[in-house]
Amino acid sequence: MADAHSTQSPKVHASIKHDSAPLHVTGTALYTDDVAEPAGMLHLAFGRSAHAHARILSMDLDAVRAAPDVVAVFTAADIPGDNNVAPVAKDDKLMADGEVVFMGQPIFLVAAKSTKAARMAAKLGRIDYDVLTPILTIAEARAANSLIEATQVMTRGAVDLDAAPHRVSGSLEIGGQDHFYLEGQITIATPMEQGGMHLLCSTQHPSEVQHLVAHLLHVNSADVTVEVRRMGGGFGGKETQASLFAAAAALVAAKTGKPAKYRADRDEDMEITGKRHDFTADYDVAFDESGRITSLRLELASRCGCSTDLSPAINDRALFHSDNCYFLENVELISHRFKTHTVSNTAFRGFGGPQGMLAIERVMDAIAVHLGRDPLEVRQDNFYGPGRDVTPYRMPVTDFVADRIVADLVAASDYAARQADIARFNATHPYLKRGIAVTPVKFGISFTTSHLNQAGALVHCYVDGSVSLNHGGTEMGQGLNIKVAQIVADVFGLNLDKIRITATRTDKVPNTSATAASSGTDLNGWAAYNAAMTIRERLAAFMAGRNGVESESVVFEGGVVRAGEEVLGFAEVCRLAHFNRISMSSTGYYATPKIHYDRKTHTGRPFLYFAYGASVSEVEIDTFTGEYKVLRADLLHDVGRSINPAIDLGQVEGAFVQGMGWLTFEELVYNDKGRLLTHAPSTYKIPCASDRPKALNVDLWRAGENREPTIHRSKAVGEPPFMLANSVFSALSFAVAAATGSRKLTLDAPATPERILRALREGTA
Ligand code: MTE
Ligand code: MOS
Repeated sequence: MADAHSTQSPKVHASIKHDSAPLHVTGTALYTDDVAEPAGMLHLAFGRSAHAHARILSMDLDAVRAAPDVVAVFTAADIPGDNNVAPVAKDDKLMADGEVVFMGQPIFLVAAKSTKAARMAAKLGRIDYDVLTPILTIAEARAANSLIEATQVMTRGAVDLDAAPHRVSGSLEIGGQDHFYLEGQITIATPMEQGGMHLLCSTQHPSEVQHLVAHLLHVNSADVTVEVRRMGGGFGGKETQASLFAAAAALVAAKTGKPAKYRADRDEDMEITGKRHDFTADYDVAFDESGRITSLRLELASRCGCSTDLSPAINDRALFHSDNCYFLENVELISHRFKTHTVSNTAFRGFGGPQGMLAIERVMDAIAVHLGRDPLEVRQDNFYGPGRDVTPYRMPVTDFVADRIVADLVAASDYAARQADIARFNATHPYLKRGIAVTPVKFGISFTTSHLNQAGALVHCYVDGSVSLNHGGTEMGQGLNIKVAQIVADVFGLNLDKIRITATRTDKVPNTSATAASSGTDLNGWAAYNAAMTIRERLAAFMAGRNGVESESVVFEGGVVRAGEEVLGFAEVCRLAHFNRISMSSTGYYATPKIHYDRKTHTGRPFLYFAYGASVSEVEIDTFTGEYKVLRADLLHDVGRSINPAIDLGQVEGAFVQGMGWLTFEELVYNDKGRLLTHAPSTYKIPCASDRPKALNVDLWRAGENREPTIHRSKAVGEPPFMLANSVFSALSFAVAAATGSRKLTLDAPATPERILRALREGTA
């Protein structure tokens, strides 16, 4: 592997603004729905199930067909190939066939001349059902033993819960979360000549959409092209969930020969698409006088919904993160994956990691409260360290820095003095109570399905010295494209205005993985680097030959190329190279080294490295109303040697606020029929500007570097800081405990004001 560790370049390690930022704020960034509509475009809407679980006895769609401006109506019977939009297990249908398995499931598809006409007509379907009893909750699924796959167990050592002087048990409920990307699900499908199909799709996974659409239409993958310029947010919600809408648009385009657009509205989007899994965690832990864990039994259970989707990998990641920063010598981790008649839950920033980590953080808090010790010290006493450095899945932790980050953060945030102040405040204030907490983060980087850890890129230099850059990753606001452009600009010694960032397309870079698992820059950054280096080496050899010097001595810097005495502009070098018939186009490829994992025994090295961080949050609750404020949060996060500190700071801050939303006010409520009651911003509250902590100090850890040879020694940043929000939840738990004086923590997540009131009441009962 070539060396990418240049330190001089102003291109990498520089705070360069997001390439789309000026377009976003001037309204000129093109999202799928902004693309000019061709004449004859059809607009789509699904007719959907009125029950969570039922057999379809008969369907009468005459009124739908007769409705104004309706052009065509399709059902599962009209699909030429596979009625399947599932990523792995082939158990998600585009349209229900015989049986419905969640409330709001698509059953038929209306194509009309306008979105309004399609949506109005979709309401006119008359469907007779044989209604069956649904399994809706984790508790109901547990009682019925309804599983999407066998319960997984990860164990190490000998768990003996009676052998230690102390033992605590308890349980925690952890809520789900809607992605609430600002741009909803959308695809435009355009039929091309000879059965070809072009899709403009808001997806994190263009290749999967391509393959699923090809199978659904019964054509070759090469006949289908998927293009993504940008998404208005994905957050995991467009890793698998875009396929449904893409498949619907492609089906209509193929059947009618007309371009077709599916643009879901917010309510429909929230009802049809999967969310973060809600979990329950039951713990039983034994520990010594200092609070150090000697044995832990942790039983996780999640609501996967009606199909497999990515639930096996998501629940595996919950297991991988149930240790967080703590050495668990004797441990039994159990994970139940429950199947229910609710929408199929899916990827969401952290991918199960946040749920596993919140569970072990509650265990830490429970131990501290039981012993009356400082929770920070209990955490530090359980940290990984020399001789205590192997995870429950047997991966050695060789890059542990959470201890140093926590130490730096505790000093910078004045934790000890504030803790004393809070104790005084709580002793004197009759109804306002405060809490403060420090929580660390350790997050494994790589897809745990090893073969997904590969990427490709395609780079061209033109004779005028400009560069076209394409790679398999997708831009969803996270700044992947600017980072990869910086890497390529650095290779050629060019300014960024010479690098053209282009839309992701399956006919340029094939067989890509989803842009997910925070690995976008790690994978595509190296692939693009390798493509650019191939071209640079050709140009260097050409310039070396002209001047009788060694190839290695040729320098690309500041827009010029230096070979011996000769100094030429990069454009002039490209022009000359073209006259000398040298190829200035190259693919690049990268596969993550060192990783392997055996899912049967749950052992191996699933991750190349870990990303670390820590946070301190201080909260205040009103014990009359249950309302609260986050008074201050301090975040310190390790991104290695940042490729773009401005982008990374934005990721850390945004992830923390999104995590805070998950743990505080974002609440998904289903009724006893399985209807999602919180399917619009009127009933589902995401964080807004005023929810941001009054004081929010965000910093990248200056000592950070990656010991693994990642691109420019950076670390992935997309998901790990989401879990910095765990300290908000811990702080709220302590504020409740300060009010009740109870030694038992009962607060569940999300800690809505209602739940805080309930915990206050339980604690004082
Ligand atoms: N940031 C923004 N602005 N929008 C998003 O949708 N998705 C997150 C994270 N940051 C997201 C985001 C998720 S879930 C992941 S996995 C990563 O970005 C994916 O991008 P990366 O691998 O390039 O970091
Ligand atoms: Mo992110 S949940 O891996 O798309």
